[in-house]
Amino acid sequence: MVTIYFVHKNGKQTEVKVPIGYTIMEAARTYAEPSIDEIPADCGGCNSCGTCHINIKEDIDKVGMVEYDSLENELLETNMEYDRMYSRLACQVMLEKKHNGIKIYLRDMESI
Ligand code: FES
Repeated sequence: MVTIYFVHKNGKQTEVKVPIGYTIMEAARTYAEPSIDEIPADCGGCNSCGTCHINIKEDIDKVGMVEYDSLENELLETNMEYDRMYSRLACQVMLEKKHNGIKIYLRDMESI
């Protein structure tokens, strides 16, 4: 089990406990109570919709940057809040023990 923190645009944080082996998207949709609206995850985690866009910021070393020549990066580049250094798709990050305590910055609801 790891504990992660979703940071909303208003600065409020949502703490979520999730078993290792699930993705950040699954943490937001299934384990958060209530679920995280800023991650609608329209494709259900198939790496095809881009609606699970998150920014990792200070914990990017633990998670890793998106690969430049990847489908994930192609999807991210179309998002308004895309940041080459910190943007990831929540469905493409599987949680491991090293991710305990990471902060996940959410997009503005109006950009979704
Ligand atoms: S849920 Fe659709 S790309 Fe992540």
